[in-house]
Amino acid sequence: MAQISIAEKLLAWYAKNGRDLPWRVKGCAHPDPYVVLVSEFMLQQTTVKTVIPYFHRFMQRFPTVQALAAASEEEVYHLWQGLGYYTRARSLHQTARIIVNDFGGRFPDSKERVLQLKGIGAYTAASFLALAFNQPETVIDGNVMRIVARLHHLTAPLDEITETIREKAQAMSSRESPADYASAIMDLGATVCTPKNPQCLLCPLKEDCLSHTAADLEQIPVRGKPAKKEKAGAVFLIRNNRGELFIRKRTEKGLLSGLYEFPWNESGKTCAGAVDTGLSVTHLFTHIKLTLRIYTMQSDRAPLPDGFFAASENLADYPFSTLMKKVLSAVPGKSRKSA
Ligand code: ADE
Repeated sequence: MAQISIAEKLLAWYAKNGRDLPWRVKGCAHPDPYVVLVSEFMLQQTTVKTVIPYFHRFMQRFPTVQALAAASEEEVYHLWQGLGYYTRARSLHQTARIIVNDFGGRFPDSKERVLQLKGIGAYTAASFLALAFNQPETVIDGNVMRIVARLHHLTAPLDEITETIREKAQAMSSRESPADYASAIMDLGATVCTPKNPQCLLCPLKEDCLSHTAADLEQIPVRGKPAKKEKAGAVFLIRNNRGELFIRKRTEKGLLSGLYEFPWNESGKTCAGAVDTGLSVTHLFTHIKLTLRIYTMQSDRAPLPDGFFAASENLADYPFSTLMKKVLSAVPGKSRKSA
């Protein structure tokens, strides 16, 4: 009898056990590439559980790529508020505009054209082409690397074996059902071959896996984790005599761009009139652990040219980053009604 391939085992497992997710149609590529595009942007760096409610709200407000392309940046940020990594929101918005304005509303189905869009690297290009067009692209994310490293019991540090993993991941991929296969391997990594406490007894690949009885199973893949750089900054809640708070919009480029904020710095420097509340907030970015000491100030004139005073009850109208929401909620009696 012919041997059943890894891809076939994985696909059979997925048909029964794969997650039903709002951006998925099992058994084929998703009929609407826009659904795949939005979900893949949201799922870059964010978990499925967190993404689901954001995805529903986003699709309700922008059901088509045309609707998204026609929206203001402000509105897109509003719906992204709290999801983090806000450059994704801008890139998705720009991508929608490229598809509508430059590609005549047609979604690109070649790697070359997909890579002309914004915010799409090798990983998202491969997942988009597999999930939206059933193209035989191999999706390689953290889940896939873990599964492949464990299947072959690769115990060298991850950065030394990425090429080996890529080759092995490619070799085991399905050519017949790339969309289902991409979803299947993501699901196996998320629900069975988890970093801690993997469920090997439930794994469709356990007979193929060189690690499932190994003592070092949970240590694979081995990664040298770079420590996050720590920064101690300052943030200023500046009120005028009407009790309004000074806010400003971050400029186009870089971290948190397009979102509103209270003036802050990464250096911890303060200025005349700043009163130390003794409170601070800490936020983890990809490479930085940032702690902001919170200061209050009184000023009837805008202290900086690029901002304005906003009444507390209106703060919810402005998209704030999670970091700035933490600042507001850390100060007793200073929090806004909702956001
Ligand atoms: N992570 C990235 N893309 C995903 C998808 N389509 N389904 C589940 N998890 C994912």
